[in-house]
Amino acid sequence: MDAAHGAPVPGAAVRLVGFPPESLLQGPGASAPRPSFDAVNVNTTPLQDPSDRQADDIGSIDALMTGFARHDYVCDRRLATVAFLSLRMHRPLLLEGEAGVGKTELAKTLSALLGAPLIRLQCYEGLDISQAAYEWNVSRQLLEIRLAEAAGPVDAPRIARDLYRRDMLIERPLLQALSAERAPVLLIDELDRADEPFEAFLLEMLGENQITVPELGTLRAVHPPHVIITSNRTRELRDALKRRCLYHWLDYPDAEREFEIVRRRVPGAAAELSRQAVAFVQAVRAMGLFKPPGVAETIDWMRALQALDTVALDRKRVGETLGVLLKHQEDIERVSGEEMPGAGLAS
Ligand SMILES: Nc1ncnc2c1ncn2[C@@H]1O[C@H](COP(=O)(O)OP(=O)(O)OP(=O)(O)O)[C@@H](O)[C@H]1O
Ligand SMILES: [Mg+2]
Repeated sequence: MDAAHGAPVPGAAVRLVGFPPESLLQGPGASAPRPSFDAVNVNTTPLQDPSDRQADDIGSIDALMTGFARHDYVCDRRLATVAFLSLRMHRPLLLEGEAGVGKTELAKTLSALLGAPLIRLQCYEGLDISQAAYEWNVSRQLLEIRLAEAAGPVDAPRIARDLYRRDMLIERPLLQALSAERAPVLLIDELDRADEPFEAFLLEMLGENQITVPELGTLRAVHPPHVIITSNRTRELRDALKRRCLYHWLDYPDAEREFEIVRRRVPGAAAELSRQAVAFVQAVRAMGLFKPPGVAETIDWMRALQALDTVALDRKRVGETLGVLLKHQEDIERVSGEEMPGAGLAS
């Protein structure tokens, strides 16, 4: 925990007469008395038309698919449709799927396509508001208290108000996304790794494009971000969160689409070798392994085969390079043994 969340503040022993800084430096949710002013709506500007020009320029699902392809992102029509609707309806898009199937890449591609900044929040266990949304600038608050003290008699209510100004907030990714001058793409990556209470905190942001800071008021986006949330489904996300999003399960691509991805991501790879490698990976995925390879691994494998000047796949070359494709010894043993699929292999 940090100072803004109620932990002791280093150097916070500054004390002004009739103005106990400890009470003022408590963060959101603290039980200590709050500064004696009402929360205000800091940005009362009404939401403008939530669409923005770059997003509006993408007039159809086909246009979005073409745009993705221009940035070497290959997607099927169902994914393009839900992404298009997410832009049009200005609703967050929740992408779930196995590892390495292009969830994160979709957000990066959307950002490139829209020419919009990408703001990324990487989730992990223990992620809290101070790392994800905002934090009070405690050292600056202390400095201002000291300066006020040095300047003479202290007007405590005024200083209390000043200590919780908007510019006293340190912006973390969520608040950065709400404050941006133009609609950014906000990637909330691997949300299933964060704790459930954090999901509850996100609801206001996802549903209303705003964050309420208890000491300050409600901060509302003028240019709401395009939000992409990803999850590997290591745990089920709450219904309340899902209700605020459009949803898409991103599966492994079929052979044709995976070949197209390889063609675009590994320029220079021989077409016949790519076909063999993709056919092999597709067969490996059907084996029910502990951790089947994702698209990212197919791409890595193709690069490895290229680096080894491979002309055609055979069992020997597959066995030598399986560590690029599979990351569990049990899976490697299965695939390199009797069960090695013949698909795509040169005899
Ligand atoms: N549809 C696609 N079109 C083009 N490239 C793709 C596609 N899907 C995946 N890739 C490639 O695979 C790589 C890995 O994709 P990405 O990082 O988005 O996976 P992910 O689903 O987010 O995986 P994880 O759950 O492990 O984070 C990308 O860098 C990209 O090169
Ligand atoms: Mg990812």
